[in-house]
Amino acid sequence: MAELHAKNIVEYLEEQRQKETLRFITCGSVDDGKSTLIGRLLYESKCIFDDQLKALETESKRYGTQGEKIDFALLVDGLEAEREQGITIDVAYRFFSTDRRRYIVADTPGHEQYTRNMATGASTAQMAVLLIDSRKGILPQTRRHHRIVTMMGIRHIVLAVNKMDLMGFEQSVFDRIEADYREFAKDANLTTLQAIPLAAVSGDNVLKRSENTPWYKGPTLFDHMDTVTVTEVATRAAFRMPVQWVSRPNLNYRGFCGRIAEGSVKTGDAVRVLPSGKTTTVKSIDFFEDQLPEAEAGASITLTLNDEVDVSRGDLIVTTDHPPEVADQFQVKLLWLSEEPLVPGRSYWLKVHAKEVSATVMEIKHREDINTGSHLAAKVLNLNEIAVVTISTTHPVAFEPYTVNRTLGGFVFIDKLSCATVGAGMIEFALRRSTNIHWQSLEVGKAQRALLKNQTPRCIWLTGLSGSGKSTVANQLEKRLHAEGRHTYMLDGDNVRHGLNRDLGFTDADRVENLRRVAEVAKLMVEAGLIVIVSFISPFRAERRAARDLFAPEEFVEIHVSTPIAECEKRDVKGLYAKARKGELKNFTGIDSPYEVPENPEMVIDTSTKSPEECALEVWRLIEGK
Ligand code: ADX
Repeated sequence: MAELHAKNIVEYLEEQRQKETLRFITCGSVDDGKSTLIGRLLYESKCIFDDQLKALETESKRYGTQGEKIDFALLVDGLEAEREQGITIDVAYRFFSTDRRRYIVADTPGHEQYTRNMATGASTAQMAVLLIDSRKGILPQTRRHHRIVTMMGIRHIVLAVNKMDLMGFEQSVFDRIEADYREFAKDANLTTLQAIPLAAVSGDNVLKRSENTPWYKGPTLFDHMDTVTVTEVATRAAFRMPVQWVSRPNLNYRGFCGRIAEGSVKTGDAVRVLPSGKTTTVKSIDFFEDQLPEAEAGASITLTLNDEVDVSRGDLIVTTDHPPEVADQFQVKLLWLSEEPLVPGRSYWLKVHAKEVSATVMEIKHREDINTGSHLAAKVLNLNEIAVVTISTTHPVAFEPYTVNRTLGGFVFIDKLSCATVGAGMIEFALRRSTNIHWQSLEVGKAQRALLKNQTPRCIWLTGLSGSGKSTVANQLEKRLHAEGRHTYMLDGDNVRHGLNRDLGFTDADRVENLRRVAEVAKLMVEAGLIVIVSFISPFRAERRAARDLFAPEEFVEIHVSTPIAECEKRDVKGLYAKARKGELKNFTGIDSPYEVPENPEMVIDTSTKSPEECALEVWRLIEGK
């Protein structure tokens, strides 16, 4: 840093700009010497300011663990402390450079509960440094780190065998660790794997070759990082740009902003917009006030097009020669990041490049054992579990497999209620059926059918505890509607579970599927022009919300039958509460399975304060607008 002052600053910046950047992630815990190693890298590359160094020297004497010497861990440990205090730092990015390269290192905590952060850090990295404490060798956490970074597409690994000083720089220790790792990683399809014996504390083999390891003939850590080829030679490089924003400052200008994910574009190029498939040509490539003749991968630009084609946020603008696929069903690899398990059939937001769509997991094909990679059966996915699953989206998505392009094939799952990121995934391929089944447009539609019946089709969804009076109210309501000539149908939990849903029980996963199916059936009935009354406990907000999303806004009417549990239990018409209390019936709603109270139902009724007839009348008034 000191030499910076002496140099012409413009020259310096230009020099920096021309250097290649290597992004890497460090995996390991503080105990493995991770902080010390990162501190050492910053120090050896002279990327510590003089005043920082002074402070470090003083602090090392006071708090350090290295006697009179500098404790490099103190440089980065501030963050560890913040983490311990519960201040969330997802990923800390640190920057340093050598004469050859600029480096961005993603520093993430190594503990299992921080898998999310590790996945985030790894998603943009080209290389991973897996830290091993040479006293301990390959640990389960090493295997977990290995799986996550390779799953996220990293093909360059450095096995940093640290604390060799504590093992007397013994070659056999190093050789055994390297051999163990190579054996374990042999199917990972790595492009480079370099094991290096290190002592980050004293700097052995970090920048300078260590005299303590005369048997080691490989490069030092810096030698390796400076020279390893990580930029894949693009074999295809076909133009792809996800549209992040549509810019309309005035009526004469319509530009599509985004970052080029692959290939390059010139003015006049023929392009295709996906998923619509419309083609046109590039009118201009705008970059702030300038217009560029050409732009390459990585550039953030605004494109204007020669024809008035419809383009929205989340679309892809691509070359016409090799357009990517468009599909709505995929096989993907999924890393689950939420305490709340993933349940097939539940609907989440899926964000892939700039596109956001609703998506559900159809089937968990298998879960992967994080240590061995072997396939396990699974009904749900828990925190930090990895699985291969099939998903379907409500709208078609233009994509590339993750192995071809990380930007166009990587996605996250977002919880629709909490808006938290609950999963990270990689598209493997589109399912054949998704491109081969087409929606049949029918000549006679919902409106025509409704007209013939002279009614407004609706889905009246009654939710509430067992014994709350849903079915009784639903019966009364249907009688009333029927009497005035309405065409109705009633879907009752107990009844539907005798036929269509007889394969389902009462686990969370089964209930989710139960409700998904009944919502789809209700939707078909509404399409047929009917007024459908659904009477299901439907205990989960997410599924009621998913049901609502299937209908037009006015069509879905949610009624919470809020009769208190004490009253339901007193009634206990089917004797189920008694059984549940005795422990003879598991997963009973309100006892040992949750009921999530509706937040914004169209109406709340309570059969403990009003008769079912009165309640039915209220609902009838609501839907008939009286
Ligand atoms: S839901 O939770 O999946 O919506 P659904 O309405 O289909 O439930 O079925 C509820 C009916 O199943 C109850 O009215 C009750 O008669 C019966 N039942 C049997 N076991 C249970 C249970 N463990 N929890 C709730 N209801 C149960």
